[in-house]
Parts: sequence; C-alpha cells; structure tokens
Amino acid sequence: MSQRRLFVTTALPYANGNFHIGHIMEYIQADIWVRFQRMQGHAVNFVGADDAHGAPIMIAAEKAGKTPQQFVADIAASRTPYLDGFHIKFDNWSSTDSPENHQLARLIYLDLKKAGLVESKTIEQFFDPEKNMFLPDRYIKGQCPKCGAKDQYGDNCEVCGAVYAPTDLINPYSALSGAVPVLKSSEHFFFRLSDPRCVEFLQAWTQDGKLQPEVANKVKEWFSVRTNADGTTSEGLGDWDISRDAPYFGIEIPDAPGKYFYVWLDAPVGYLASLKNLLDRRGEDYDAYMADPRLQQYHFIGKDIVTFHTLFWPAMLHFSGRKTPDNIFVHGFLTVNNGEKMSKSRGTGLDPLKYLSLGMNPEWLRYYLAAKLNARNEDIDFNADDFMARVNSDLIGKYVNIASRSAGFITKRFAGRLGEEDPQAHLLYKLASSALNEVKDFYESREFAKATRTIMNLADQVNQYVDQKAPWLIAKDVARDAELHMVCTTAIGLFKDLTVLLAPILPRLAAQVSDWLGVDVQKWDSALVKLPAGHVIKPYTHLLQRVDVKQLDALFEPPAEAAPAQAAIESIAPGGGKNSTPTVGAGASFLPPEGADSALGRPGGERNLAPTVDAGASFLPPEGADSALGRPGGEDIAPTINIDDFAKIDLRIAKIVNCEAVEGSTKLLRMTLDAGEGKLRNVFSGIASAYKPEDLIGKHTVLVANLAPRKMKFGISEGMVLAASHADEKAQPGIYVLEPLPGAMPGMRIH
Ligand code: MSP
Ligand code: ZN
Repeated sequence: MSQRRLFVTTALPYANGNFHIGHIMEYIQADIWVRFQRMQGHAVNFVGADDAHGAPIMIAAEKAGKTPQQFVADIAASRTPYLDGFHIKFDNWSSTDSPENHQLARLIYLDLKKAGLVESKTIEQFFDPEKNMFLPDRYIKGQCPKCGAKDQYGDNCEVCGAVYAPTDLINPYSALSGAVPVLKSSEHFFFRLSDPRCVEFLQAWTQDGKLQPEVANKVKEWFSVRTNADGTTSEGLGDWDISRDAPYFGIEIPDAPGKYFYVWLDAPVGYLASLKNLLDRRGEDYDAYMADPRLQQYHFIGKDIVTFHTLFWPAMLHFSGRKTPDNIFVHGFLTVNNGEKMSKSRGTGLDPLKYLSLGMNPEWLRYYLAAKLNARNEDIDFNADDFMARVNSDLIGKYVNIASRSAGFITKRFAGRLGEEDPQAHLLYKLASSALNEVKDFYESREFAKATRTIMNLADQVNQYVDQKAPWLIAKDVARDAELHMVCTTAIGLFKDLTVLLAPILPRLAAQVSDWLGVDVQKWDSALVKLPAGHVIKPYTHLLQRVDVKQLDALFEPPAEAAPAQAAIESIAPGGGKNSTPTVGAGASFLPPEGADSALGRPGGERNLAPTVDAGASFLPPEGADSALGRPGGEDIAPTINIDDFAKIDLRIAKIVNCEAVEGSTKLLRMTLDAGEGKLRNVFSGIASAYKPEDLIGKHTVLVANLAPRKMKFGISEGMVLAASHADEKAQPGIYVLEPLPGAMPGMRIH
C-alpha cells in the first residue's frame, strides 16, 4: 500500500482544569491508532491544543485573580507530566488563543459570510447589571416556572426536569453577582445551518456511511426534529448563534467591535491552528499540506460533542471552501470502579498523576484500556480488580512469561547467540502470520479489544509450545543442547512477533525489547523477518512488574492526612461539656482534588441561545434516570452501618464567621468556623464554584468536628463542611452547603 498522509487530533480539552482519566483515555486511544499507522510507514501529524476561550474560563480566571491568558498558560504548563507520563506522543500541543487560531478563525468566518451563511439578528437576553455582562444560561438561576423549585438553572429544572428559557424563571438572579438580571437586546451573529444548502450538504456528509452507525443514526434525528430552549420542538436544523458580547475571552469578530466568536466557533479551528503552528515551525507549507488530495483528516472525540463535530464543524469547513474531515471517531465515556460517572468534585475517580506517582506502570493502563476499547461509542469501566487480573494474567502471565522462560538459556548456554527455529512449529508460524493480518485490521478499525484478544490467543499457543517442550527439563541433559537451543530460539522469535503486535499499545516495552533483541520491533515488518541463526541478543533483564494490590489500594485511598493539631482539637469540649468523640478517617472527603472542574466553570454547560440544535449530552441517559435505577443522586446507598458507627462521626453546628477566596485555587474557599469551642477553626471547602465567599459569612452550617486535620497546599484544614451534590456533576451540576433551620447554635451536636 502506498504511504498514507494522516492528520489526526483529539478533542481540545477546556483549559479550566487538569486532565482527568477520561481525557487520558481519549489520548491513549488516539495515540495507539497513530503509533499503529506510523508502524505501517504512514506519515502522521498528531496534534492537540488547549481550548482556552469562553465565559467560564474568563470567570474562573477572575476568581483566581489572574488574567485569562495567565490562567490558561498555567494550565498549559501542567499538561506535560500527563502526556509524557502515559507515553502520549502528540507532535504539537498548542492553544486556541494562539495567533494562528485568531487568524484562521477570522478567515473561515469571513469566507462563511461571503457564502451568505452568516446573518445577524437582534435577540433579547439576560444581562447582569452589576457585572455588566450578558449571562450565559448556566449563570442565571431562579425558581422553576413549572414546579417552583428554588435555585434552578436557566435552561432546565433539576427537580422536575422541565426545560424552559431563562426568561421563564421566577425571581431570576445572576449566579455571578446575585443581582437581578435585566433583559437587554443585542445583535448576535448566526451561522445559517437551516439554509437548504447546509441541510443538503450535511445530510449527505453524515449519512454516506463514513460515520459509526450509531452516530449516524443519532445525527439523523437532528434533521427531523429538535428541542428549542423553551421546550417546544421544531423541524430540522436551527441556526447557530456564533457570537457573544464583551466582556468575553475569545476572538474578536472582524468588523464587529465588542463581539466575539462563541467558544465553539473557534475551538475546532484550533485543530487546524495547531497543525499550522507545527508546520510553520518545521518550515513546511500549511496550505499545500491541506490541499493535498491524499490527506486524510480524523478527529477522536467523546460522545458528548458529536453535534459540533458532525454538523457545525463540517459545515464550517465545507462552506468556507476547506477540506472536511474524513471521519469522526466517537468513543464512549470512561467510568471508574462500578460504573459511576466520575465525580470530579469528590475526587473519587482515578487521578492520573497519583497513578504515576505510585510507580504504577503507564503501560498497564494503556494495555487495560486497549483490552476494553472497541469502535463503538460505548462507555467502558475501569475496574480495579479487573485491571489487576488482566495485566497480571495477560501481560505477565502470558506474554512476558514466554521471554522469561527461554531467554536465560540463550545467554548462559549459547553466549547470547540464537540458533535455528523449530521447523516442526510451522503451525505456530502460520498462526502468527494470520494474527498479524487480523490484528492489523483490528487496529485500523479501532477494535483494540479484539486486537488484544487475538494477540493473547497467540501468546497462549506459544506458551503451550514452551510447556510441551519444557526447556528447563531439556536443559538438564547436556546431550540435548541443540534441542534446547532450537526451542528457546523459536520461543524468542515468536515473542518478538508478539511484541511487534503489542508495540502500538506498549511503546516503552517495545523499545526495551528492541534493545534486548537488537531489532527494531516498532516496525510492523519486523514481524515478518526471522532473526537469523547466530544473531546475538543481550542478556535478558526483567521486562515488566506485576500489579501489586497495595498500589491499587493506595490509588483509590482518599488523600493522606496529617496528624498534628489533633491533640488541640480533642482537648476541647464544645457544645456543653462532652468530649468530642475520637477522630475518624476522612472517608469520602468533600474536598476536590486541586484543578478538578468546578460545577460552574464548565464551558460544556454553556448552551447556545435559541434557536439552535440540541448540542447537549444527547447520548447520555435522560435526567432522572438514576433514580429510576434506584441510585438516588447518582450513587448507590452506602452499606448499612449501626448506630455506633454513626456515633463515631461528630457533627456540630458551626457558624461561618469568615469566608474568603483562596489565592491560587479556583476550587477552594477558606472558612473560619466557630463551633463553640472557644477557638476558631480553619476549614477549606471545594465550593468556590457554587458560592461567593461573602454570601456565606454569618450563616450556620454543619461541621464534621472530629475528622483528622488534613494538610493541604494552602494550609491545614481542621474539619469538613457538609454539602450535597449529585454524583454525576456533568448531568446535574451544583454543590449545596447544608444549613440548619433557625435556632441551632454553634457547638450543638447533630444526633
Ligand atoms: N473543549 C471541548 C472540546 C472542543 S474540541 C474542538 C470539550 N472539552 S472537555 O475537556 O470537556 O472534553 C475533552 C474530551 O474529553 C471530549 O472528547 C470528551 O468527550 C472527553 N471526555 C470527557 N470526559 C470523559 C470521560 N469520562 N471518558 C472519556 N472521555 C471523556 O469538550
Ligand atoms: Zn421544576
């Protein structure tokens, strides 16, 4: 086959928080595919970038006391340890706030305008008179017009599930300032997706068989019916609101001072901008590269952002006279241990940096994810027991086992020289060469689970061969040296082939094996070449450790605690004489890991204004599905405890005497609490996304008074404030601090 030219991207992560394990999964999936293509000799440019723009990032930056530019630069600086750590090899990592992106986004917009597909309309929208800005739907709260529930978001009610426009809310208020928003009209620009040219093009583009069948089917629905912001439905595609008014962190629209591109307009342009940035630096011609008819363009994305990539993005490209993607590869969501959606605010997910810092091998995770991934957009679950079993039994027990049982003899008995391969093992060679073809197709079609299964089948067969021959027995008889040489050579040759097959998943291991065997196993063709008799290999050193259950325990253990200051707390008897009960472990601490996404700081939550197509989480279960499954709040009720267990937890009423933002953290508020102890406590709480500090001062709340103090980056936290949230923060955002009914006094115990 002739050399393919491939331009590959992953989705551009919002620059408002650290990577979580879901991001890492997407990058590993794409990285495996890219490495496979490179092993075939194809030319790939694989790029990523931070998605820097939008109101939530602007607001998060303001809270952190930084300029948005500084804020996103700090996030960008934090990316390398994750990418390097998991052997994810992007050719470039840029930002949507780059000069290339500013330029390209404007050019594309101007081309769309020229094509007659941009239209301006004056719309009415809520405006925060204190903050002096228009409010995205997610930042307007009020009472649900249907059921009267308080503190509901501007687009839907989390209590009764009603969908409405922000203007329908009773007593609306700004989630940013608390001010009563006023209706103000403003000119917005719309991309005319409803234009018959667009509809015709997109129908063909999305239904021509390139998309995954389940994705194409979902997209098909959007052509017939859509849900408007006020809950009514309309026929066909709606126009797309692509502008936002200042103040906005984004790209200013040409000839429209004070108007900025909506973040989702310039975000996918960032794919091109990152590529351009790379090619410019290499001295290659971007325009020529994109104009090459052989170029194939692929985007790996998650199921929540399909609309943007199958409607808006191809339409933007096509009608601005540019190349459209050859395909969009959609994956499902990763959940951690038992299928719960990762709760970012509670840190119950799998922290990728913690994984690495525990000395866990990144290639274990790469292998485990590969063993679960297929070409459909199905969710997959990281299960700790399953992880350990797969890695230990497949990678160590099957694959590495072949080398460790045969390599020593080559060094000790044959001075590192390989001999002849066993001619009687031809069935094995046949199996290996058919595996090579099958696995190649599986990688190409992103059926990684099937690839690993085929590889492990082959490993099983090779192990059977070694078992039958039992080189450790042959070795006892010097007269059988030739046989020993042949058996070990055969096993090592097949081990080399297995390593070639695994190389896209295990690049570091493949590099080690290349060094050991003196042959580059990161080339697909190396599997076809036999190592000649007389070929010298280095002494074998152990290739891979087993997963230790202690590492997994540590990985999912809540953050470590600091012991000091405990004596001081225990010696005080608040609330009327009784001593506080002894300290209990932190359990599921409410404190989020630093950098976790905040409930409000989620650009994904920034919905388009009406009229629009439904851009939201179309593949996610409907709101409220959790309760139907008997999982209130998105999680199972914890195992039963008895009253003595409960009594171990000392809950006290505390008054919030002071509350302030924490410099350097967008997540935490620092609270000074009076729990009637004659001294005040310092407590950090991960609620900065939900409350303004000044709104909490003077309120009473509930404190876990005997929780071991915890040392944090910003100081010691002496307890924990109780708050409620849904386990799936994306589907049901919001954190609610507990407040007692009037009359409760500081120090009173909660029984
Ligand atoms: N900024 C947008 C994408 C713009 S692309 C031009 C965005 N960012 S994100 O940070 O929220 O998500 C980035 C990618 O991570 C998306 O493809 C998303 O689907 C994926 N994932 C987010 N959570 C995930 C899991 N739990 N599991 C797997 N992928 C997940 O959307
Ligand atoms: Zn309601």
